[in-house]
Amino acid sequence: MKRVTFAKIRSEDAGPVIRRLMDEGFVDVHAKIGKDGSYRYVPILPERLGEEPVSSMELVEGDAHTLDRRPPQERIGEILGPELSRIVPSKWETVGDVVILRLGPECWSHRREIGRAYAEVLGAKSVCADVRGVSGEFRKPSMEVLYGSDTESVRLENGIRYRFDVTKVMFASGNTDERMRMRRLDCCGETVLDMFAGIGYFTLPLAKFSGARRVFACEKNPESYAYLARNIKDNGLADVVIPILGDNRDLPGRAFADRILMGYVQTTSEFLPAALRMLKPGGIIHYHDTFYVNERDRRLEEIFDAACGKDGYEVLSVREVKSFAPSVSHYVADVRVRPSRPSCSR
Ligand SMILES: C[S@@+](CC[C@H](N)C(=O)[O-])C[C@H]1O[C@@H](n2cnc3c(N)ncnc32)[C@H](O)[C@@H]1O
Repeated sequence: MKRVTFAKIRSEDAGPVIRRLMDEGFVDVHAKIGKDGSYRYVPILPERLGEEPVSSMELVEGDAHTLDRRPPQERIGEILGPELSRIVPSKWETVGDVVILRLGPECWSHRREIGRAYAEVLGAKSVCADVRGVSGEFRKPSMEVLYGSDTESVRLENGIRYRFDVTKVMFASGNTDERMRMRRLDCCGETVLDMFAGIGYFTLPLAKFSGARRVFACEKNPESYAYLARNIKDNGLADVVIPILGDNRDLPGRAFADRILMGYVQTTSEFLPAALRMLKPGGIIHYHDTFYVNERDRRLEEIFDAACGKDGYEVLSVREVKSFAPSVSHYVADVRVRPSRPSCSR
């Protein structure tokens, strides 16, 4: 193997130093940058070794591991061979250092070998197969671990750290735009209630960026709740967010929330009476549900007419969050409940 000289750089200083070495053309771009617990090892071109700033850095010699610049799919194919490479997925989801695959039945008898190949090429600590999507009241995923054992990871998204175990709680990667929208809302001084908080999907971006004074985040599944509580701390939001373990219909209180998030689909309307009890007159509900595309407006009207009375609300906007099934989409409607609606006095 080719030998190369590396600049040994403390990990905490590595970002700007490596950028500078790259920008100024010191780095051998055909060799890999190495790392251990405390240091990064940056391969330096031999002809630049005598120049500042490299000449005053600590330098060590080692084997050059060449940087394989081929697409991962090609490298996975090389490990698995031509037959398997024709049937393995060309897409995958990454959650930090965990990879999630959807395998067809024809791959199943080779799943361990496939998991190992994806782990090796993608540098993942674990690889899981998404077997049957999510199900039940808690939207629990059904995953099989193909490679590795540690399936807890951190997804970094738009300034938020979401820690969770991919085999225990769901994460809807298709809802990114809605999580981003929660970050952009203007909730200055508001009290917000997230009735279906999960691990903090909407709670965390809203609490961090929208200016809300207080966010109550209710979650019924103890496993999700544990991650919610941890994520609130890890994102520095303990002063703003109060996590609550339990069923949102059992929350006490009336007319305390300026805004309520109802990030749940298919049975959401069953939770509207509880939401309307807790919403302040004139408050806003972000109401999620799934509808046939051509029935969306009629169904929304039926649901809110029944809950608030015909003139008791105003639909401010409706957006598609994502496609859910053929001709069915997941929507979110922003609905203002009028102060004068008849049932407000309940
Ligand atoms: C997984 S989230 C839905 C998806 C999420 N909005 C997103 O963007 O990914 C729904 C959460 O509501 C929780 N949940 C279901 N019923 C509940 C209830 N009655 N009270 C509180 N939480 C509930 C589930 O456990 C789940 O964690």
